[in-house]
Amino acid sequence: MTDIESNGSQLPTVLLAGATGYIGKHVCETLLNRGFHVLSLGRGKSKTEDHRNFEHISIDICSDKEMTEFARSGRQIDALISCLGSRTGGRRDAWAVEFGANKNLLNLSLLMSSKKFVLLSAICVQRPRLEFQFAKIAFEDHLIASGITYSIVRPTAYFKSLAGQIENLKAGKAFVVFGKGVGTACKPISAKDLSDYICGCLEDPKRQNKVLPIGGPGPSITPIEQGEMLFRLLDKKPNFCYLPSIMFRIISALIAPLSLISEKISNLREFIHIGHYYATESMLFWDETKERYSSKETPEYGCDTLENFYCEVLKSGMEGQELGDHKLF
Ligand SMILES: NC(=O)c1ccc[n+]([C@@H]2O[C@H](COP(=O)([O-])OP(=O)(O)OC[C@H]3O[C@@H](n4cnc5c(N)ncnc54)[C@H](OP(=O)(O)O)[C@@H]3O)[C@@H](O)[C@H]2O)c1
Repeated sequence: MTDIESNGSQLPTVLLAGATGYIGKHVCETLLNRGFHVLSLGRGKSKTEDHRNFEHISIDICSDKEMTEFARSGRQIDALISCLGSRTGGRRDAWAVEFGANKNLLNLSLLMSSKKFVLLSAICVQRPRLEFQFAKIAFEDHLIASGITYSIVRPTAYFKSLAGQIENLKAGKAFVVFGKGVGTACKPISAKDLSDYICGCLEDPKRQNKVLPIGGPGPSITPIEQGEMLFRLLDKKPNFCYLPSIMFRIISALIAPLSLISEKISNLREFIHIGHYYATESMLFWDETKERYSSKETPEYGCDTLENFYCEVLKSGMEGQELGDHKLF
């Protein structure tokens, strides 16, 4: 089945954190389809809860105390996959989840004799400017230094993250781009393909002890091209609204003094910085020597295309693709 051998006579057990999330849900399904026993940890239950090889334990992953107590339960796991991500991207939450919760999972992993730790990270940490990116990198470094066999998966944009304007377009509104809409690009990947890639890290020795940037099937696509594709599929005349990305900087500067006295405004300011980042940076491999993003060097995986995804969403709606607090991107 895999090079992950079970600790005992039962199915190999993978502890999964984030099984209620967009990617985590798919990872859970993929693991179950591949014959693993899934032990899910988290604050909410996943929809897969009635599968006979699925088990959920309600626990506060951010709490060192609860996690240490759980580690003493004497259970063993074969591998751990973390698909956690801050729901808000707020400064405090980012550190609590991206660093704190993942650190607790790593401790648990070591105490429960896990052989592997697969971390879902993000390609944008290559050029960090945001709090959640610094928190992710701090944990990546911690994981690498721990000595456990690891795979750090850094995907480019998810399909859902490029679908936030579909309803506006259907309602006759313009497609919003920053600058001329050609300054950034990504190689989007579907949740199914990414889950397949993540679960493959348990099996493929070439993906072990590596940091793995990963995109979907190419070529890369710019915001203008996304809009053009959507207008074509909707059979509507292209209609773009061009906004200057500097607007994020101006708003950030205006609210800077208030952010010093209010955590709410400080989080709002961080959210604006996130907006500016995605309006100006590509989600592609960053070539350090040439100091530019490289579409060619961004590895590709899977076969699901953005165009098919858009067709599906136009036909059946966005159910299951909810953007939550990430709606802006
Ligand atoms: N969006 C993109 O295009 C993109 C691209 C590359 C990488 N990424 C990264 O991929 C990762 C996963 O993304 P996603 O869209 O699948 O995320 P998501 O749908 O927001 O799911 C996040 C998961 O983390 C859990 N979580 C958050 N805060 C928690 C807490 N305090 N305690 C326990 N569990 C907590 C959530 O559990 P609950 O259900 O209990 O909230 C959920 O299971 C993120 O780290 C993100 O940065 C995203």
